[in-house]
Amino acid sequence: MPDTSFALLDNALRHAPEGSVIEVNLRARQESRRRTAAIEVRDKGPGFPPEFLPHAFERFRRADPGRARKQGGAGLGLALVASIAHAHGGKAEAGNHPEGGARVSIELPLRPPA
Ligand SMILES: Nc1ncnc2c1ncn2[C@@H]1O[C@H](COP(=O)(O)OP(=O)(O)OP(=O)(O)O)[C@@H](O)[C@H]1O
Ligand SMILES: [Mg+2]
Repeated sequence: MPDTSFALLDNALRHAPEGSVIEVNLRARQESRRRTAAIEVRDKGPGFPPEFLPHAFERFRRADPGRARKQGGAGLGLALVASIAHAHGGKAEAGNHPEGGARVSIELPLRPPA
């Protein structure tokens, strides 16, 4: 899923303070017979405004449309991430870390072992 994870890295790079660490975690999880892998990108920027979170995956939505281009584009990246994740039977989630910063994850089903 190079496009989806790239969209999350692009967002993190736009919002995180210059030089700060952006964490990318990958974990597998088994829930009864369903095995999934989740990629989570976490940055140390301002995070999502809480009132924006319910709309984060809507097309053309931006938390602050007036902000400079450096921090925002068309508002399509997260919508694409969610629709690609859904098309593969997975899901996307956005939130803020309790210690600050945005975290966005993509969870995808893994093929059962042969
Ligand atoms: N890591 C983040 N930290 C804070 N806000 C974020 C972060 N990622 C996304 N956002 C907010 O969510 C909005 C939607 O993100 P999305 O990736 O869909 O669009 P975009 O980055 O503005 O444009 P595009 O991805 O199409 O170039 C952003 O405009 C920004 O307001
Ligand atoms: Mg984006």
